[in-house]
This record gives sequence, C-alpha cells and structure tokens, in this order.
Amino acid sequence: MAAGHGARPAAWSNNMQAGLTTGFPGKLFIVEGIDGSGKSTQLDLLHKWLIAEGYCVFFSAWNSSPLVKKTTKLGKETHSLSPTTFSLIHATDFADRTEREIVPPLKAGAIVLADRYVYTAFARDSVRGNDRNWVRKVYGFAVPPTIGFYFRVPLETALDRILVGRPELKYYEAGLDMGWSEDPYESFRIFQGKILEEYERLVEEYNLTVIDATLPITEQQRIVRSLVKPHLKDVLRDPQFRRRRR
Ligand SMILES: Nc1ncnc2c1ncn2[C@@H]1O[C@H](COP(=O)(O)OP(=O)(O)OP(=O)(O)O)[C@@H](O)[C@H]1O
Ligand SMILES: [Mg+2]
Repeated sequence: MAAGHGARPAAWSNNMQAGLTTGFPGKLFIVEGIDGSGKSTQLDLLHKWLIAEGYCVFFSAWNSSPLVKKTTKLGKETHSLSPTTFSLIHATDFADRTEREIVPPLKAGAIVLADRYVYTAFARDSVRGNDRNWVRKVYGFAVPPTIGFYFRVPLETALDRILVGRPELKYYEAGLDMGWSEDPYESFRIFQGKILEEYERLVEEYNLTVIDATLPITEQQRIVRSLVKPHLKDVLRDPQFRRRRR
C-alpha cells in the first residue's frame, strides 16, 4: 500500500466508516513480523526518540482494549474460541482501539505508533483457516498506515530469540487449537512458519516496508528513524520544545 492516508489498495474495502481513512493530518507508524522478530524493541526505541524530539506521540498495542478483555480471557482459558470467534474478538478489540486510541490523535495531527496492526490478523486468521478476503473485509474500517514496517527474520532466528529458557507457551499462542502437534513447541514452530509465509504475501499485497531484522538493533533503528523522519514535517510538536533545548 502506498504510504499516506487516503491511498487505499483495492483489497482495503470501502464499507464501514470509510471516511475514517482520508485526510488526517497525523501519521501512523506500525510494526509487523513474527513473534521474536524484534518489533517491540524497535517501536520502543522509535517511541523514545520521537518523545525526546518533542513530538506528540500515542501508542496502541494489539489486543489491549478493555472492552473485550474479560471475554477474550474467558475464551482463551476455556479453549472455547473457534477460528471465526478468535478473529472477530480481535477485530472488536481493534475497532475499539481505532475509535478511541488511533483516530482521535491522527485527527489532532499527532503520531500514533501501533505494535501489530491489521496484518497480524490477516496472517494469523488466514493460517487458522479463515477466508483471506473475509478477514480483509472485516478490517475494512482500519486506517491505512503511513508506513507499515515488516521485520523480516528467518524462523529459526526468531525462535532462538524467544524460546531461550523455554518459556511456557499458551494454547492459542502456540496454535494448539489447530491440532498440528500436541507438543506446544512443535506446534508453535509450525504455526509461526505458516504465519511467516502469509506475511511474505502481505509484503507484496500491501507494499510493507521491509527491514532486515537480523541486523543489530542499533542499525535497524537507524534505518527506521531515517524512513520516519521525512513524514514528521507537519506533525504536532510541543511548542515549548525548541525553546527548552536552547
Ligand atoms: N536485532 C536483534 N538482534 C538480537 N536480538 C534481538 C534483536 N532485536 C530484538 N532482539 C531480542 O529478541 C527478543 C524478542 O524481541 P521483541 O520482544 O522486540 O520481539 P517481538 O517481535 O516484539 O516479539 P513478540 O511478537 O513476541 O512480541 C528480545 O529478547 C530482544 O531483546
Ligand atoms: Mg512484542
């Protein structure tokens, strides 16, 4: 997808609240990639830099809306979410955050950073067997990001990063609901491998900005900042900032 609000690919459906996608003065930067690709590390560093530069920054994390928290928890604990209800509950979470956390700052001309975005749903929900076009339509109300960063990393590198110390994997996190393996680690490996394949399709389809996530953290951050910088010219900034720096 072309950067900037208003440019929408054909797949970005034009139904619910279509007006949301046009004409916001703010900027939206989002990060995507498989578990352990380094998304949060990079977004956190970007966040700190933008704040230090005096920009007005808001942050929104995947699956963090209080609206569906209890239901999601219950569904996960009782293993009662199907691929469809899993998808819809995350879409509800996303719709709530879009209305409360993403659109208002963009309207005000601020920066919004999102750790995971619609592409997480497109990848995961498709791997769970939901129809690709159906998932894209469900998220038709989403605001296209200014830049969608995709942190590309080989599966083994990501697994090595996050499975050190063998943390306990949760049922849905490991994709155990799919029945590919009874061993959580094997299931997780299969699940992440399939998600990785799905992400690679999305890079093409939505023109995501690929970052080589095997590079050192500081090198990746240098690239991320250099790509974000040209979009900051008219973004809301603390008027006191320049004066304080003198
Ligand atoms: N470039 C890198 N080189 C080596 N290790 C890294 C790199 N980037 C991040 N890490 C480490 O890998 C681990 C996972 O990083 P991080 O939490 O940022 O990934 P993530 O993509 O947000 O994962 P998740 O999807 O599980 O939230 C952390 O321990 C982090 O310090
Ligand atoms: Mg993370």
